[in-house]
Amino acid sequence: MRVWAIANQKGGVGKTTSTLCLGRSLADAGKRVLLVDLDPHGSLTRAFGVPTEPPPIGTHELFNDQGIADVARPSGYPGIDLIAAQPAMATLERRSATQPGLGLALGRALQASPDSHDYALLDCPPTLGLLLVNALAACDRLIVPTQTDPLALHGLAGMLHTAAMVERSRSRPLLRQILPTLFDRRTRTGQHTLEQLQSHPGAAACPYPIPVDTRLRDADALGSREHIYGRGLIAYEHAMQWLLDTAPAEQEAA
Ligand SMILES: Nc1ncnc2c1ncn2[C@@H]1O[C@H](COP(=O)(O)OP(=O)(O)OP(=O)(O)O)[C@@H](O)[C@H]1O
Ligand SMILES: [Mg+2]
Repeated sequence: MRVWAIANQKGGVGKTTSTLCLGRSLADAGKRVLLVDLDPHGSLTRAFGVPTEPPPIGTHELFNDQGIADVARPSGYPGIDLIAAQPAMATLERRSATQPGLGLALGRALQASPDSHDYALLDCPPTLGLLLVNALAACDRLIVPTQTDPLALHGLAGMLHTAAMVERSRSRPLLRQILPTLFDRRTRTGQHTLEQLQSHPGAAACPYPIPVDTRLRDADALGSREHIYGRGLIAYEHAMQWLLDTAPAEQEAA
């Protein structure tokens, strides 16, 4: 199983939308996909219509030694399984102070089921904490959705700095890639920021920016088969292909 973390410490840059759309693109290409909602707010979980009351079984149980097979559920979208978020995940931060090794719990769970899926995509919260550290420790690559807006460059720098810190405690390198999002090609700032992302020294940027597309705003439709195909989803399909093409051979050969 290849593990992709979709993360940026800045909020509202398209992490959850990218997780959903890349997951859909991979599933539509015949891959078995696992989406893991690591954000206690549960936007990804809600997109698949999973009721949050009573709290569903899900990500929190992975930190109590349960396995992927115990907590993953069919998402309703063909080819995609989901591990749902729960509010209780917010308490993990406190537990980590007294429980060493909690930062590696997700990686351990994924490694214990190496063949359950072809790809696991981790939708990260916009905060630097235990859940994000778990994702960075567990993944093969980090995809940083970055809004094509000058302010977003600070968020990108922070995320790449965190990735470099976590990489030092990993036994293998961490591939970092930028996914430009919410691109409006009609604006000069959008064009200029895209150029800056594409020549960024810290990570390679996907040459297919994700455009602003109002069809992508309807997250509930993204989680179902409902027809919302348009330039946003087409851009995600190109981005998915670029991600597959840029995979280190030893990691993604399967
Ligand atoms: N390409 C796009 N075109 C139009 N709207 C978009 C696009 N990408 C994301 N959005 C909308 O922007 C908002 C933020 O997107 P999203 O929830 O994916 O960001 P996020 O980084 O996961 O946010 P958070 O940090 O709160 O988890 C949502 O309302 C989403 O529907
Ligand atoms: Mg989100």
